[in-house]
Amino acid sequence: MTKPISPVKMTTPPTLMPPQGKAAQVREMFSQIAPRYDFLNHALSLNIDKRWRRFVLQKVKEVLAKPNARALDLCCGTADLSIELGAVAPTIGMDFCHPMLRLGLEKVRAAQVPVNLAEGDALHVPLADESFEVVTMGFGLRNLESIEGGLAEIYRLLKPGGRAAILEFSHPQIPIFKHLFRWYFMKLLPRIGNAISGSNFAYQYLPDSVQQFPDQQSLENLMSRIGFSHVEYYNLFGGVAALHLGDKP
Ligand SMILES: C[S@@+](CC[C@H](N)C(=O)[O-])C[C@H]1O[C@@H](n2cnc3c(N)ncnc32)[C@H](O)[C@@H]1O
Repeated sequence: MTKPISPVKMTTPPTLMPPQGKAAQVREMFSQIAPRYDFLNHALSLNIDKRWRRFVLQKVKEVLAKPNARALDLCCGTADLSIELGAVAPTIGMDFCHPMLRLGLEKVRAAQVPVNLAEGDALHVPLADESFEVVTMGFGLRNLESIEGGLAEIYRLLKPGGRAAILEFSHPQIPIFKHLFRWYFMKLLPRIGNAISGSNFAYQYLPDSVQQFPDQQSLENLMSRIGFSHVEYYNLFGGVAALHLGDKP
């Protein structure tokens, strides 16, 4: 008699090794806040985040207009930016947090756009060099173990003539507003965010990680050092966020 095969018990998705260090913490944190992520994103930014993602699309649209162009959205989370891109060109959204992707998948199905979601690490993307006309990362770079490693991976994946678009929280530039925003971001937002998300860490990590993130000019310099050309950035809402663009020569 053949012995029945016992089901394999898995705690992590089969495609991924458990990430280490900061990556493991970040992944765990987003797994915990995933059900409240979209709501908090839009509420805490008064829906301005939606405008920022649309602005990304505006800045990459001409590159995606090339015949057969494809986009990759790394750290796609619940797929808001992937869906924007998918309205213009076939897009792959990739993230290493399963619960965020599951929520994203429902939104992609509802939007009926050509977006495929895949589980993967933005620092080790299992896709060939020079595969995409556009690679985006929305509010992801700050969370990576290595900012330089993330940028180098984006560069590797872009076709020559392709464009990288990095949307990330940044450092406000306008003097009085800067102080008001700092109070909101450092004091008020963590309290509201942690209370609603049920995490006592995630919305404190947010301002802390932004403080440690390079300012607009430093990130521009870093992108140029990696090899991007035509590097430029746009301050959004007075520098609360910034969109950095760079082309692969
Ligand atoms: C703040 S969310 C941004 C999600 C989405 N791009 C947006 O605009 O709302 C950051 C996302 O980055 C993902 N992430 C962080 N580090 C990652 C890594 N090394 N590889 C893949 N995804 C990562 C997290 O799982 C999370 O979903």
